[in-house]
Amino acid sequence: MKSIYLVSLCILFTILLTSAGIDLVNLFNYSGQSIPTYITKDNTAGNSITDEGATLGRVLFYDKSLSLNNTISCASCHLQSHGFGDSIAQSIGFEGGLTGRHSMRLINARFSNESNFFWDERVPSLEAQTTAPIQDHVEMGFSNTDGNPGIDSLFIKLENIDYYNTLFDLVYGSTVVTEARIQDALAQFIRSIQSFDSPYDVGVSLVNGNINAPFPNFSADENAGKTLYMTPPGGPNGGAGCNRCHQAPEFDIAPNSQNNNVIGVAGTPGGIDLTNTRSPSLRGMFDAEGNQLGPFMHNGALGTLEAVINHYNDIDWNPAINPTLDVRLRGPGGPAVNGQNLNLTQLEKDQLLAFLQTLSGSAIYTDEKFSDPFESNGSLNLDESTEVAEVKVLGRLNVSNVPSVVQNNEVLVVQNDGTISKTNNTVRVSETNDTLFMGSQWIIVPGLSNANQ
Ligand code: HEC
Ligand code: HEC
Repeated sequence: MKSIYLVSLCILFTILLTSAGIDLVNLFNYSGQSIPTYITKDNTAGNSITDEGATLGRVLFYDKSLSLNNTISCASCHLQSHGFGDSIAQSIGFEGGLTGRHSMRLINARFSNESNFFWDERVPSLEAQTTAPIQDHVEMGFSNTDGNPGIDSLFIKLENIDYYNTLFDLVYGSTVVTEARIQDALAQFIRSIQSFDSPYDVGVSLVNGNINAPFPNFSADENAGKTLYMTPPGGPNGGAGCNRCHQAPEFDIAPNSQNNNVIGVAGTPGGIDLTNTRSPSLRGMFDAEGNQLGPFMHNGALGTLEAVINHYNDIDWNPAINPTLDVRLRGPGGPAVNGQNLNLTQLEKDQLLAFLQTLSGSAIYTDEKFSDPFESNGSLNLDESTEVAEVKVLGRLNVSNVPSVVQNNEVLVVQNDGTISKTNNTVRVSETNDTLFMGSQWIIVPGLSNANQ
């Protein structure tokens, strides 16, 4: 018979920390967020989100220690209030240098068919992406060039920070920092940044997932904009054809997209860059107050969505300069000389814009679980401080005394009369000798992993 050794019952007085920080007793729910049934695209591939992993990812994302001179974090260029993108066309790196491209919004990065990341799709996965900025000579500086150290020295730096000892141990059962561990945790956090509280999502749910039906919660203009978005150009009822590449209901980029004739280089007048074939999801382009979160495109060349719509309305194509323009933008009815001309009226442009606004939700920009856990002085509080007031050895308990077999993430509470119950508090229960925290009581249960089977 399986048994649990309940060695110590400690009545403890938890020092409650009221500030920002990480509550290790009650981790945020990253792993079990609900995803609408009509959302089917997912680039997760083998690195599933756990609450522990995404929590570590959140700390890494907001930690300026990831830059060589402790001035820049991922969030310096990927601002929560700005859809996890940046308001300036070129972001500022650790030594004041400017990035070569515009920072990308990260909302719903998980939900795409395209699994290559960056505007030019140069990395094969989100995991591979996450440590690229750390090693970039402009962005965070562990570049192994210009006399600067490589990323190996970051691993040692992080191993000497107490909160990473706690967090890496929590996630990986060991304090060792490796590139793969950083990548998995950051990718889990980024994939958890999901937003499905938009008017569009309300609409889909009201028409049983038939996204081409008029949405009852939409205005006439928003529904007209939706039809324009979904309908390919050409013919008497031709639309704007956006859905050919930014595909509903995720609004991720079609993997086969080529460039869209935005071919300039940020900060380099006359520069040409034909390699940009990826776009962030078109969800999350407006904040909760309705402000546009531009500028848009890889070079930030289009400051507003009005400018974006005008760009697609009349693509000014020179095949000699841009031989790889996507064929879909070369004009309705086959290759055209001058590029697509949609001939949208002002009313149609307004309707398309109104529709694009319905794709944004509101909670994501302020949700605490995606926010900065650091204090303004750069310190991080991990709420695990405890003080043991009394230790009492209770002896050996039988699993049959427990209400049902102990599962992961369940906490045993020993009542004053010695009976045992479970609470809904969630903690990690994975290893022998784990310490369980539960508000005002604390039990140490060696061998609990046996009871998990
Ligand atoms: C100095 C600004 C800066 C910093 C710091 C920065 N990024 Fe970025 N990020 C960018 C820019 C610019 C791009 C687009 C670069 C490109 O495509 O060439 C980008 C692209 C990305 C993408 C690709 C999104 C997509 O849809 O393809 C991800 C993911 C990302 N960053 C995550 C991170 C993480 C994680 C960190 C911290 C380890 C980080 N960034 C640090 C500016 C920054
Ligand atoms: C042939 C495929 C294709 C079609 C059709 C298309 N796009 Fe794009 N779109 C792209 C690509 C590729 C990018 C990234 C280009 C870049 O930055 O260089 C992009 C970028 C964008 C961006 C910028 C996103 C950001 O985060 O900065 C917006 C907005 C956009 N498209 C809206 C539209 C709208 C609206 C339509 C319809 C009128 C449309 N697109 C039609 C391929 C397409």
